Amino acid sequence: MAIQFESLDYDIAGRCGKLAVGKKVIKTPALLPVINPHLPLITPSEMQKMGVGAIITNAYIFSQSMQFREQALAEGLHKVLDFDGVIMTDSGSFQLSVYGEVSVSNLETLSFQRDIQSDIWVPLDIPTPPSADHATAERELAITMERLREAKATFGDDAPIAAPVQGGIHPDLRKRAAQEIGDMGCTFCPIGAVVPLMEGYRYRELVEVVMAVKKTLPPSACVHLFGAGHPAMFALATAMGCDLFDSAAYALYAKEGRYLTSHGSYKVDELVELPCACQVCRSHTAGELRTSGERERLLALHNLYVTLAEIARIRQAITDGTLWELVDERCRGHPQLLSGYRELLAHTDTLEASDRATKRRFFYRGNESCLRTEVVRYQKNLSRLRLGRDVLIAFDGNMQEGFSDLLLFKPPFGPYPKELKETFPIGQSEIPDWDEAMVRQGCKGISSLIKSHPKSRFVVACNARWVKVANEELPGVEVVT
Ligand code: GUN
Ligand code: ZN
Repeated sequence: MAIQFESLDYDIAGRCGKLAVGKKVIKTPALLPVINPHLPLITPSEMQKMGVGAIITNAYIFSQSMQFREQALAEGLHKVLDFDGVIMTDSGSFQLSVYGEVSVSNLETLSFQRDIQSDIWVPLDIPTPPSADHATAERELAITMERLREAKATFGDDAPIAAPVQGGIHPDLRKRAAQEIGDMGCTFCPIGAVVPLMEGYRYRELVEVVMAVKKTLPPSACVHLFGAGHPAMFALATAMGCDLFDSAAYALYAKEGRYLTSHGSYKVDELVELPCACQVCRSHTAGELRTSGERERLLALHNLYVTLAEIARIRQAITDGTLWELVDERCRGHPQLLSGYRELLAHTDTLEASDRATKRRFFYRGNESCLRTEVVRYQKNLSRLRLGRDVLIAFDGNMQEGFSDLLLFKPPFGPYPKELKETFPIGQSEIPDWDEAMVRQGCKGISSLIKSHPKSRFVVACNARWVKVANEELPGVEVVT
């Protein structure tokens, strides 16, 4: 296979992996900066020195370019761009979605991408906008799928062809697309037509679309989020299992005088300080950056550094098992990201299946933490505890007479035997003073323990402060103080 993907480390549904394209290998999650050959604010070879292993450019621009077309055909894209990493080319689909038509067919663009020696080729998929109704999205999806089949039939299963997943905002169509693409054995799957969702801050719907796709694609597929985006959303997207991003944001934002940070952006005209550790920010004052003749390029450089650093931070978080904390932090930067985060938490049952067993730590960061995969996993596993006839669950940890077993209590997880005190997640979780949300969640753990042990009798001993909550969450259970 021309494109191979292997995951090495997991956290939530995110993974650190290796994407091999021919002989070239890149680490994922990865950012593929978008290169416009006509406006090279930062050259691909400069990017390579910044640690960029893969870039994406537009085959349609090359095919229409007086300046570059013949050179690319004669010498190949890597020579023209002076970049020996992975080069992915997009078809004219983006132009198609913006201008309504392009003067190239599916097989023409694919042959052209092959002839300019692109490493990853994209067929002429149809990016169905979110406004499209079900019937339209279905019709357009059928065309995209037909073009993908045509591509495979013409160039063979070994050709490095990306399989875009379309379907608009209709989860059933996204699932159908993902199912067919998985069945075809495709290993490289961009999720398409999400740019309008990201531009409109519609992160809740973005999460719905991506989760519908991820639930259906085989886990072995490398997933690319087409046209994403702002670094503040990379952690959220990675948690869902997206492996690649192809942002033009570093250049687009620079053009508009915007300064990216990992949690939002500033207008450079409003900045009196440059709150960043990159080379640009440490060698200029805010005033110098604002008035520099090279302002756009300097901003683009800073924006790219910030974006690459965020990808590195995400990879480290996956290695450490702290991706939930990073997602939580990033998604508090904008209310619509918080909506996306909450939608993600609504899929905890699915995410739990791919999450890893132990992590460095669990930091409780408020209500949302109650719905994390570790809590769901812990509460499911409670059914495996072996218990005697009379079980005391004591919030203060003190045994009383007449019980065969004593369980302690740690919210938001729930009851635990002292043998689990040092194990994940009971031992490696840091929680502040108990709050109502976490105690309620912990009581749900008690409730599922009781359901899975019908032969035991349970008594919950808690202090006066929590009696009301315990009674509400545990109807029919004996609660004493
Ligand atoms: N760039 C951003 N979105 C898309 C998409 O849906 N398809 C293609 N081919 N390129 C894109
Ligand atoms: Zn900077």
